[in-house]
Amino acid sequence: MSNKKPLNVAVVGYGFMGRTHSNAFKQVSQFFSLEHKPILKAVCGRNETNAKAFADQWGYESYETDWRKLIERKDIDLIDIATPNDTHAEIAIAAAKAGKMVMCEKPLGRTPTEALKMVEAVETAKVANMVWYNYRRVPAVTMAKQLIDEGKLGRIFHYRAKFLQDWTISKDLPQGGAGLWRLDASVAGSGVTGDLLAHCIDTAMWLNGDITSVTAMTETFIKERQHNLTGKVETVSIDDASAFLARFDNGSLATFEATRYARGHKALYTLEINGEHASIFWDLHDLHRLQYFDHRDEGRLRGWRSIHITDGDQPYMKHWWVPGLQIGYEHTFIHQAADFIEGLETGKPASPTFRAGLATDYVTDAVLASAQSRSWQDVKKA
Ligand SMILES: NC(=O)c1ccc[n+]([C@@H]2O[C@H](COP(=O)([O-])OP(=O)(O)OC[C@H]3O[C@@H](n4cnc5c(N)ncnc54)[C@H](O)[C@@H]3O)[C@@H](O)[C@H]2O)c1
Repeated sequence: MSNKKPLNVAVVGYGFMGRTHSNAFKQVSQFFSLEHKPILKAVCGRNETNAKAFADQWGYESYETDWRKLIERKDIDLIDIATPNDTHAEIAIAAAKAGKMVMCEKPLGRTPTEALKMVEAVETAKVANMVWYNYRRVPAVTMAKQLIDEGKLGRIFHYRAKFLQDWTISKDLPQGGAGLWRLDASVAGSGVTGDLLAHCIDTAMWLNGDITSVTAMTETFIKERQHNLTGKVETVSIDDASAFLARFDNGSLATFEATRYARGHKALYTLEINGEHASIFWDLHDLHRLQYFDHRDEGRLRGWRSIHITDGDQPYMKHWWVPGLQIGYEHTFIHQAADFIEGLETGKPASPTFRAGLATDYVTDAVLASAQSRSWQDVKKA
């Protein structure tokens, strides 16, 4: 019998993220010593057969086919939103009003206007809240944050991030509906700017501080696609590719690029930071390694170090196996669940909160506005 306090969780959506979150809530108590243990109370999906099958597969106590039922239930403490972007605001605001804690997938809203309402709802209700920008919790990325905060890089000059995919190149790919909602701006908010660059921006501002201004270009390479919901060929409303220059508050300069048209790349998220003394490079395809160059090393031995982040004194790793054995993508969500719960217990909420998620939405909004106006845009402060 567990003497831990139950944290009753309901997950909305049983797709890709529904699985990563369910796995995180299921495993976190085994690997982290926390006072609370998440209980998989309910999963919600609109298709009853699928919702029931998912509940059985993952060990949920129950399922619902309408998220509003979850909000009404007294036996649920935390509503976790793992549904497409057009549903985030309505579910989060209703959950906060009912006094539930809310975790929400990224981007927080389709627009900053939507995201701001979500921030106001959780802050008015004083409920714990978090956005699933999980890349902060790749141990190598967390270590990059430690090194920067310790001043190892010195003054930062450059930040460079890319997120490259290639899955929408075919002109025969339809848009919209289940599975392809990312190609429909009315559901997604935007294309790669809100989907992929949002991740890069969240990590960047966490590592290197606020972005103050941007200038961007976007392109929609395939202008028309058949829409899955109407059956008609319709104008494509999203940005297929997006690139922007940015200035940070600390004076450093940045380049960001995302596309779903980079043949050969599936999820190539890379970031590089160049400081006065040292540089850091990280690549999602090799996520347990941090590349580090320190100019202060003895000249003869100076070079890029490829640090295998698996040791107990490296972030999160003492919770896992033995030095040398690495972990993967799913663990970033387990780390995030652990930090969220620890935040409840210490009274120091873990970031990114909804307000930090809003900050990213302000940047993506400025990027899209800049691409449209062909001018530099200042970024609003969250
Ligand atoms: N953190 C990350 O790295 C990451 C990765 C992928 C997706 N995401 C985000 O996660 C969210 C979900 O993306 P996904 O890839 O899991 O999508 P998905 O299409 O795989 O799954 C979405 C699920 O939501 C369900 N759904 C849709 N509307 C619903 C409603 N009204 N009520 C209940 N269920 C509903 C769908 O049936 C489906 O099960 C999006 O906001 C996306 O941007 C984040």
